[in-house]
Amino acid sequence: MEYFAVCPEQEIPEGQGTLRQVAGERLAFFRINGELFCIDDTCTHALASLSAGQVGGRTVTCPLHGGQFDIPTGKPVRLPVTAPVATHPVEIRGGQLFVGLEEEAEDDY
Ligand code: FES
Repeated sequence: MEYFAVCPEQEIPEGQGTLRQVAGERLAFFRINGELFCIDDTCTHALASLSAGQVGGRTVTCPLHGGQFDIPTGKPVRLPVTAPVATHPVEIRGGQLFVGLEEEAEDDY
């Protein structure tokens, strides 16, 4: 796993997703009660952008068909999504947000 700089951590607001492209990956960042989380941006159902989804509590609702994911775990919590979305560890170093990506992520770049 390798960590990549994303942006100043203050750029990730509460209540809505933030899309960032990191090492060729489209990632969705969320802040829930001050804590930061990262999941793949692409819905596992039909490729919609989850950063554009509505955030409620710790879930995000896909804007295309209304499926829901639990953001901290990536688990599907409402149909039609049935497959989990990948989650990625985040760290804050000196006010900068970093995300940890597996090696395969670089191969797509
Ligand atoms: S594309 Fe996300 S629920 Fe269909």
